[in-house]
Amino acid sequence: MCALRERVSGNVVFRSMTLDDIPDIMIIEHESFTLPWSEEAFRNELTHNHFARYLIMEYNGKPIGYAGMWTIVDEAHITNIAVRAGYRGQHLGERLLNEIMDWASDLGMLRMTLEVRVSNYVAQSLYGKMGFVPAGTRKGYYSDNNEDALIMWSDLPGADLDFDEEESSVGEGRERNW
Ligand SMILES: CC(C)(COP(=O)(O)OP(=O)(O)OC[C@H]1O[C@@H](n2cnc3c(N)ncnc32)[C@H](O)[C@@H]1OP(=O)(O)O)[C@@H](O)C(=O)NCCC(=O)NCCS
Repeated sequence: MCALRERVSGNVVFRSMTLDDIPDIMIIEHESFTLPWSEEAFRNELTHNHFARYLIMEYNGKPIGYAGMWTIVDEAHITNIAVRAGYRGQHLGERLLNEIMDWASDLGMLRMTLEVRVSNYVAQSLYGKMGFVPAGTRKGYYSDNNEDALIMWSDLPGADLDFDEEESSVGEGRERNW
């Protein structure tokens, strides 16, 4: 199972997603994406995918955002990130992305990647601000309108540290220095 995470940051709580969160996630998913994942997809991620980690951002006890990733060897692949429509534009998406990058780094990941619609300038701007750079496209990646995906990558804090990977253990916490 996934390593669990819980951290209070100012007025929001970041914690690992549980099955009980799925109804709230469905609301955010449907208001955020034209190809929303199903409840079953999230259930499978939480119960069967040992590479998957999902983070909830909670305000006043209610989920207002979430982000997910697959952690494979030393690379983290963002699967989805979304903030409730009424809470956007307050730097909460930035805090959420920062938190999942931190989590990936704590788990020993050195790089993070994601796909984003070529038309999604808001998300691309957020990723650029957080250090992601474009690294190619996947043609016709999105099945609803055959839109291309921009592939973006960012190094994580551990990537520029001079340490022996053989001696670093997955799950061991490391200070973030950026
Ligand atoms: C993408 C998303 C997570 C951003 O969350 P957010 O809380 O609204 O964004 P923030 O307030 O943290 O903004 C962080 C940065 O994103 C960019 N951004 C946010 N809103 C923007 C807007 N309306 N126009 C342009 N850039 C914007 C800016 O770079 C901003 O930094 P700045 O305010 O210093 O300029 C949110 O818009 C969302 O859930 N969108 C729908 C789902 C989605 O597209 N997910 C990404 C899939 S790849």
